Amino acid sequence: MPQSIVRNVKPDELGALPKNLHDWTSGFIEATGTAIALTSDSFDPTGCFVAEDKGSIVGCVAVTSLPRKNWLVVRYLSAKRALSRVYAVEKLLSRALQYVETKNPEFLRATTPSMQPYVDVYKSFGFRPVRRDFRITWDLAGTSEKENKQVEIREVTEKTAPEISEVYVESVRPYWDWRTEEQGGEEAVAQKFKEGLKKGERWLSGSVGKSVVGLTGLIPDYYRTGEARFRGTFVVPEYRGRGYGRTMMSQALSWAKKLGQHKITVYTFSYLECLAPGALLYMGSGGKIESEYLQLQRAL
Ligand SMILES: CC(C)(COP(=O)(O)OP(=O)(O)OC[C@H]1O[C@@H](n2cnc3c(N)ncnc32)[C@H](O)[C@@H]1OP(=O)(O)O)[C@@H](O)C(=O)NCCC(=O)NCCS
Repeated sequence: MPQSIVRNVKPDELGALPKNLHDWTSGFIEATGTAIALTSDSFDPTGCFVAEDKGSIVGCVAVTSLPRKNWLVVRYLSAKRALSRVYAVEKLLSRALQYVETKNPEFLRATTPSMQPYVDVYKSFGFRPVRRDFRITWDLAGTSEKENKQVEIREVTEKTAPEISEVYVESVRPYWDWRTEEQGGEEAVAQKFKEGLKKGERWLSGSVGKSVVGLTGLIPDYYRTGEARFRGTFVVPEYRGRGYGRTMMSQALSWAKKLGQHKITVYTFSYLECLAPGALLYMGSGGKIESEYLQLQRAL
C-alpha cells in the first residue's frame, strides 16, 4: 500500500486545493467559497498540510483561527479516494493536531462533510459531534412567493447599518449564541455586519410600525454571475412564530430574482437530532439540502 508523506503546503500549491477539495468530497466542499477562504488575510498557510503520494497531492487539512483569540477550527480534512487512504487521513489529522498544540489553544472544533472516513477518524482522535450544518439552495425558477404579513421593506444603507447591526445581533439569539461566542461576542458580530455591507453584502429590513421585526441578506453574484450567497432570514425573538420569517423569506426570493439571480445558497446549522427553525423555514420555502456537514468538538 502506498504510504503518503504529510508535509506543509507550499505557497504555489494552495491555488489547486479548492478544486481538489471539491473533487475529493464530491462537491460537499465547494471551490468558490474555499478559494475565498484560502486567500483571505485570516488564513495562515503554516497551519495547512498536504499528503503527497508518488509526487502528487492526494490529501489535505488546515487549522484555521476563529476571530476569538486562541480558538481554532480544523477544516478541509480530505483525501482523494479517502476510504482507501484512511491511514493518510489519520496522518493528516495527527499532523494538524500537533500544530494545534503549538498555538496555545483554548477551544478546538472541527467541521467536516458528513461522510466517512472523516467522521470516524475525527472520533478516533477524541472529537465528539456537536451540531450539523447544511448547504441549502433554491432554484429561483421553481419558487413562488407567498406572503401573508404586511411588513415595510427597506434596504439597509451605510447610514442605517449601525442601528440595524444591533437588530441583527438580537435576531440571532439564542440559536446562534455558540457562533456569537466564536466570533468574539456581540460587538464583534455587529462590527462584522457593518463591514459585510461595505464589502458587497446587501440586506433588507422588514418593519411593522416603528419596529424592525426581521432581516434578510444576500451577496449577489458571489459564486458566479446569477448565483448569490444567501446570508439568511432572521426575525427578532419577540416577533417569532407569527409568520414574519416566511414573509421575509418570500421578500428575499423576489429580491434575489430582481437582482438577476437564478440560484441562492445558504449554510445553516441544525442540532444533531432535529432541524433548527431556520432549516425548516428554508425547506418550507423551496430550499433543498445539497450537502450535510458535521461540527465536532474536542476537549483540550
Ligand atoms: C428561523 C426564523 C427566521 C423563523 O422566523 P419566524 O418568524 O418564527 O417564522 P414563521 O412564524 O414565519 O414560521 C415559518 C416557518 O419557520 C419554521 N419555524 C418557526 N418557528 C419554529 C420553531 N420554533 N421550531 C421549528 N420550526 C420553526 C417552521 O417551518 C415555520 O413554518 P410552519 O409555521 O408552517 O411550521 C426565526 O426562528 C429566527 O430568527 N431564528 C434565528 C435566526 C436563524 O437561525 N435564521 C436562519 C439563519 S441561516
